[in-house]
Amino acid sequence: MSGALRSRIIGCGSYLPQRVMSNDELSEIVETSDEWIVERTGIRQRHVAAEDEKTSDLATNAARAALAHAGIDASEVELIVVATATPDDTFPAVATQVQRKLGITHGAAFDVQAVCSGFIYALSVTDAMVRAGQAKVALVIGAETFSRILDWQDRTTCVLFGDGAGAVVLKAEPAGDIRTDRGVLASRLHSDGRYRDMLYVDGGPSSTRTTGFLRMKGREVFRHAVENLASVVGEVLNEAGFEAKDVDWVVPHQANRRILESTAKKLGLPMERVVVTVDRHANTSAASVPLALDTAVKDGRIKPGDLLMMEAMGGGFTWGGALVRWG
Ligand code: UT7
Repeated sequence: MSGALRSRIIGCGSYLPQRVMSNDELSEIVETSDEWIVERTGIRQRHVAAEDEKTSDLATNAARAALAHAGIDASEVELIVVATATPDDTFPAVATQVQRKLGITHGAAFDVQAVCSGFIYALSVTDAMVRAGQAKVALVIGAETFSRILDWQDRTTCVLFGDGAGAVVLKAEPAGDIRTDRGVLASRLHSDGRYRDMLYVDGGPSSTRTTGFLRMKGREVFRHAVENLASVVGEVLNEAGFEAKDVDWVVPHQANRRILESTAKKLGLPMERVVVTVDRHANTSAASVPLALDTAVKDGRIKPGDLLMMEAMGGGFTWGGALVRWG
């Protein structure tokens, strides 16, 4: 292919493990209540992976659903990028195991680690590779089993997270006018490692030789999230030459309903234009943006031609946004 390219998103899919854990069930494990969790976060339930279900299984199920939605055979996929902070094993990359499970032996597969911003990072990196001509068809997946790194004695964190996966299929197409083209129109990524201690896992192969547990200073993360998300959304809009009022749907990382409300308010957008799924699956880290996207596409809210703003913020800190014209 010659000339400028654009990555069009031609399909999406998602997968949630069968087991649902309610807030009431959690209140039997730690000192908490359905009332506190709903009021402070908007979360009503989360899904938890089965003992023998790994991140690569969740990712593969989401990928299969996305390929079916796109009408693409797995053999056409030339690149698989998985965003995850909870890989099956320290190595190899989850993406290589998704590749194996899909029966693909050509092309490349690797993981991206940006915790809750992982999907935006993976989408941005894959978009750049597609536009550079490195792959004509690519799978971008966000998949997590955060239940495995939660301290189930710590009520300040264990009530907030869940397991799941979501995926999209990107296809290289000739770029035209950014005002009317479909696909990834712009993206921006940020990180600032000074905030490591606000949100981290207290273990790893090179520090403790264990997996460790998630630790978070929730209130501080909340404050930074609202600031950083509003700012990166502004940057992305600016880069693409659009305004907040042009956005049909915000498809945000689903951490806390109050973060979504505060960010929407800062952007001057009504909550009717924000996709909210945190009530159903809690914070699924890198999986939450594609889970929200798939929900709103499949229930008919997001229509071909709609302008979507995806955004996320996570451990590191990392944060980013991507502007996509759907369909
Ligand atoms: O995915 C990216 C990163 N993650 C986030 O974006 C999460 C960002 N942070 C948040 O969502 C919120 O800060 C939390 C939901 C984590 C906490 O909400 P908050 O309104 O900031 O509460 P808080 O941390 O200020 O705690 C308020 C009170 C405390 O009690 P005292 O000190 O006021 O007596 C906590 O001990 O709530 C208590 N608390 C709980 N009570 C019942 C904390 N967790 C719980 C709980 N159940 N699960």
